[in-house]
Amino acid sequence: MFLFGRKSKRKGKEIDKNRLPVHIAIIPDGNGRWATRRGMPRSAGHREGANNLKNIVKYCNNLGVTYVTFYAFSTENWSRPKEEVDALMSLLLEFLKNADKELEGSNIRIKVIGDISRLSKELQTEIKRVVESTKVNTGLNLVFALNYGGRDEIVNAVRRIAQDVQGGRLRPEDIDEETFSRRLYTSEMPDPELLIRTSGEKRSSNFLLWQSAYTEFWYTDKLWPDFTEKDMEEAIIDFQNRNRRFGGI
Ligand code: FPP
Repeated sequence: MFLFGRKSKRKGKEIDKNRLPVHIAIIPDGNGRWATRRGMPRSAGHREGANNLKNIVKYCNNLGVTYVTFYAFSTENWSRPKEEVDALMSLLLEFLKNADKELEGSNIRIKVIGDISRLSKELQTEIKRVVESTKVNTGLNLVFALNYGGRDEIVNAVRRIAQDVQGGRLRPEDIDEETFSRRLYTSEMPDPELLIRTSGEKRSSNFLLWQSAYTEFWYTDKLWPDFTEKDMEEAIIDFQNRNRRFGGI
């Protein structure tokens, strides 16, 4: 009895596959610095970041995680030099175009959150094609946040609620958290349980604001291209050793 008690308090050193976070959100930060430190253009860092994203996605899929959401392009990222925005957009297009070949046999489903109407027509068409062609898959849901901003998402939800009230489809007294959640880009998804940000920055930067109310945050100084499967494992083990109280005691 005594032994059992002691054992149960010991921090786990391995991933408990029965208690995986269902949804992991990732801010893959530090691509630019990774490249600059090597005397390379920032776009080379994004390319390396995109390659690394594939490794981490494979790892999460094999582990049995249900959702991984990457903050790939924020509503604020448009303010970067045009050349960098273009580089990010073409990497994304390249990823989507090769997705069938790359993901073949992986059973991964691709989704997108954010306002894609500002993206190029070609990118929008490719997004729709990949989302459609992978929608029967039952493995990891790989979610890209594109032209995504948490505040923008909230404002859109409010606008839709106002329209529903104005149109007589919704009564103000019936508005609750559920009404609101259903009008977010993430309406079909569970909230993230773990949010990882690389490169030493400790901010949420307008990512999943509403959805991260009870998310556990995990930070590392490593730059995204250097973030390995081993780091992912460490983040999950750390998450599993936390005491989540959701406001209770
Ligand atoms: C942050 O690094 C990263 C981004 C703004 C973009 C994230 C994009 C990828 C991981 C690759 C995109 C490709 C696909 C296939 C989705 P930063 O540029 O802010 O780096 P810095 O903080 O060092 O400047």
